[in-house]
Amino acid sequence: MASGNYDLEALRKQARGHLESLRRAGVEWLPAPAPAMLTLAQPVAAAPPATHADVPAPVTVVPAASGDVTVVPAASGELTIEQRRQALQLLATEISTCPRCAELASTRTQTVFGQGGPGVELCFIGEAPGADEDAQGLPFVGAAGQLLNKIIAACGLKREEVYICNILKCRPPGNRTPLPNEAANCRPFLDRQLELIRPRFICALGGCAAQNLLNSTVPLGKLRGRFHDYHGIPVLCTYHPAYLLPHRNPDKKRDVWEDMKMLLTRMGRPVPQR
Ligand code: URA
Repeated sequence: MASGNYDLEALRKQARGHLESLRRAGVEWLPAPAPAMLTLAQPVAAAPPATHADVPAPVTVVPAASGDVTVVPAASGELTIEQRRQALQLLATEISTCPRCAELASTRTQTVFGQGGPGVELCFIGEAPGADEDAQGLPFVGAAGQLLNKIIAACGLKREEVYICNILKCRPPGNRTPLPNEAANCRPFLDRQLELIRPRFICALGGCAAQNLLNSTVPLGKLRGRFHDYHGIPVLCTYHPAYLLPHRNPDKKRDVWEDMKMLLTRMGRPVPQR
């Protein structure tokens, strides 16, 4: 061990290994290290030449003393769609090894980052991956996802036209509700993800998503029916698709459709007849 709290050479090695794994994962360029990290974040010898070396870095990968890695957001306002796409890819790779919630990190099959691309009109935010999502690495692919697909189609949209993600990127064991500290650990990732996606509208699915996104303790029933604000983005809250499944509350589908009509109208889109 070196004289400091941690072994600098071990950290360098760890950072090199991590950067190399990013390269293998398809990250095609890397930002210059922040000045304070120059002694730690050495360039990877085997990395291919940067293809966007002259553009602003969207994300800086900083090895932290704990061995964890931290995504340091850079302003994304001036980034092109392609740069935002790459920054999202980098963020997803970062999150894939996140150790912040020890229980979730040790029980997940993989993280579930999100699906879709930057610049979409609408982003749906759910609670957390379930068993199917944990197995496939994609959000809303199980029974609730099939219902979400129907909601999206009823709105006259295609799933590829929206962005879908969750408050948590890891499956809570047994599909339990995310704990407050888990939501807090994941929050910087969600905020950065939304900053890069920059949707025009957000639809929060269920009380957990709505309350966490809006930092509110108001019950979902009282959050529905009006628009809220997330950093200037209008947010509509509705029931979670899992709540609408046949064995639960299928009659609430009518309420969800009322919410979707309100959302489509605010978006300036036609409301399809049902
Ligand atoms: N429920 C959620 O909240 N998210 C998913 O991705 C799947 C089910």
